Amino acid sequence: MRKRWFFIASWLTLSVVGVGHAMAEGRPSSNDTPQLDDGKKVYRQYCASCHGTQGEGMPNWQQQNSRGELPAPPHGPEGHTWKHSNAMLYRIVAEGWRDPWNKTDRLTMPAYQEVLAPSEIRDVVNYLKTLWTQEQRRHQADESEQAPFPESSVATPE
Ligand code: HEC
Repeated sequence: MRKRWFFIASWLTLSVVGVGHAMAEGRPSSNDTPQLDDGKKVYRQYCASCHGTQGEGMPNWQQQNSRGELPAPPHGPEGHTWKHSNAMLYRIVAEGWRDPWNKTDRLTMPAYQEVLAPSEIRDVVNYLKTLWTQEQRRHQADESEQAPFPESSVATPE
């Protein structure tokens, strides 16, 4: 009898903790964990050189440099990556980006659609979410309800 209660109690605790965790944090569910590792690898290989190993960005990222371009911003709480929906973040990484006020026309943020698979772009964006606060993750998850990742990136080829 005791044993049975123990099972029921631990089952309840685990479910509540699990669901509460996923909901409160608005971060990818535990099913996404292998993809988060993949995302981290993609980040280290393709993004860290400009955005920093810890996502800290370049020094003076808020000021235009000598060429009149904005340096790579941080992806953590102090940056504004978290303010963009999944659809927008996907687009920025796939198609590249430049601040409209940059004095040159080039894409200061390179386009990755020829380099990374759609699922890798989604994975690296999901990895960036691990650098945000709970509050920021929740806000971004709400934004993304209306603007999700493109279908092509979600259907992972087997
Ligand atoms: C050659 C340097 C460079 C590399 C490599 C690079 N970025 Fe960027 N990234 C930038 C710059 C510079 C900007 C800011 C562009 C601007 O505002 O003019 C930027 C902006 C961004 C933004 C928008 C941030 C915001 O606050 O609006 C995201 C998201 C982003 N990069 C993600 C990535 C990811 C993911 C990778 C790797 C796949 C990557 N970047 C690789 C230079 C780089």
